[in-house]
Amino acid sequence: MNNNPVILGIESSCDDTSAAILKGNKVLSNIVATQQIHKKYGGVVPELASREHQKNIIPVVDIAIKKAGIKKHDINAVSFTKGPGLLGSLLVGTSFAKGFSLSRKIPMICVNHMQAHILAHFIKDSNNPVPKFPFLCLTVSGGHTQLVKVNDYNAMKIIGTTLDDAAGEAFDKCAKMLGLSYPGGYLIDQYAKKGYNKKFKFSKPKVQELNFSFSGFKTSVLYFIKKEIQLNNEFINKNIYDLCASIQYTIVEILLEKIEKAIKQTGIKTIAIAGGVSANSYLRERLEQLHIQKKYTVFIPKLEYCTDNAAMVAIAGLYKYKIQSFSSYSESASARLSF
Ligand code: KG4
Ligand code: ZN
Repeated sequence: MNNNPVILGIESSCDDTSAAILKGNKVLSNIVATQQIHKKYGGVVPELASREHQKNIIPVVDIAIKKAGIKKHDINAVSFTKGPGLLGSLLVGTSFAKGFSLSRKIPMICVNHMQAHILAHFIKDSNNPVPKFPFLCLTVSGGHTQLVKVNDYNAMKIIGTTLDDAAGEAFDKCAKMLGLSYPGGYLIDQYAKKGYNKKFKFSKPKVQELNFSFSGFKTSVLYFIKKEIQLNNEFINKNIYDLCASIQYTIVEILLEKIEKAIKQTGIKTIAIAGGVSANSYLRERLEQLHIQKKYTVFIPKLEYCTDNAAMVAIAGLYKYKIQSFSSYSESASARLSF
């Protein structure tokens, strides 16, 4: 067994076509082609996404291999996202990985996208410390919001999840109400920097246990904006910064309340965040504060490993490679894959 294998990772679960090469836990290349076609529709159009993946996958893999400075025959295994995600998009990555594995006669490893987000914390590209087990991870993306107890690389348990919309979806839908382009999470983050986050108060849900809900919050933003626009149709333009800051504040508060609750319930004080929303500068800032004020050990991923990327798929593949957990060719994509 090679302790330092070269792994090609393939990610195609949503609207990013990505390929990465890792040697052991070091990234040699990580190429992400973000599909721009969806912007004009205000959200990801599944059929267009799979067609774009088909166009992108070969050039993206070629660039990743060239940038890594290796040859195809140096690759020891190929790992790919099995799910969750858009079925048509997942099928492109899955089929590519199968073809690559068969033609190169190397093992193929399927990976859960949400677990890959978490395992991105183990990518070693500087002298960054890595979390010690067990730790809690808040995984927040466009499609999922999960609190996960991470016992080991391949042993994780979901202890809380959203009952309706995901945190990223809440950002994106609120952004849409404000007339911002898709995906709006990043823009809300930028505009919020210039706003006052207590200017507008939005309702926070009361949800049992460690679960989340964002649909009531989203509706309260919608009704509030509609009411204000009737009084002044320039309301959004005049208040865009404060609106973004207040929306972001509420979403982050909802997330942090559950983290605190999970810490109390489990007694685990090592916490990590992962997924696209972990790129949010205010969430990152609040986590840093928790470290300073409450002495929690906090892990915040580098920005390039927050949103979808194949380096996280390759590192998740590495930890399955180490236990020889390989996939068979009957393995297929699974849109609702859980763990
Ligand atoms: O993990 P990800 O790249 O894709 C999924 O697996 O869904 O997450 C995408 C989500 C989108 O909802 C996007 O708006 C959100 O992450 N996002 C952000 C920020 N950057 C990306 N949300 C808030 N603040 C950001 N800076
Ligand atoms: Zn993701």
